[in-house]
Amino acid sequence: MERTFVMVKPDGVQRGLVGEVVRRFESKGFKLVGAKLMQVSNELAQSHYAEHKERPFFGELVTFITSSPVFAMVWEGENAIAVARNMMGKTNPADAAPGTIRGDLGLTIGMNIVHGSDSPESAAREIGLWFSEDTVSYERAVD
Ligand code: CMP
Repeated sequence: MERTFVMVKPDGVQRGLVGEVVRRFESKGFKLVGAKLMQVSNELAQSHYAEHKERPFFGELVTFITSSPVFAMVWEGENAIAVARNMMGKTNPADAAPGTIRGDLGLTIGMNIVHGSDSPESAAREIGLWFSEDTVSYERAVD
């Protein structure tokens, strides 16, 4: 069983898309094991996006992600990392297929509604960065 980190970014929260994103993951069969609405600090934003530090859009990315609250989640299920990324669609919503979250709901690469871990290493790092152990459920309430 795998876990992945998924976040509804400020644009998604502002547009009232938290429920739509949660619905898609629940309907797919994943289990929600952690969730919180939070204002991202500059420090957390810099750590989360550390791999993009040298990219020209890094400053813009940090400014955007700290601009208003995000909805951070941990989802659990079979192949959760790859399946969640398929459900989100390509990073640029203009290229994302219809039926995906970005393909259906987004228009620009900066405001692409959601973020999801891209590998098991990223998932472990991001879950550890965003959640403390006591805020992630370790028991399945139902099978
Ligand atoms: P995300 O999956 O959160 O990971 C890095 C983010 O950088 C990505 O989604 C995009 O929202 C953002 N991004 C990637 N390329 C660009 C770009 N050219 N301009 C602005 N933002 C970008």
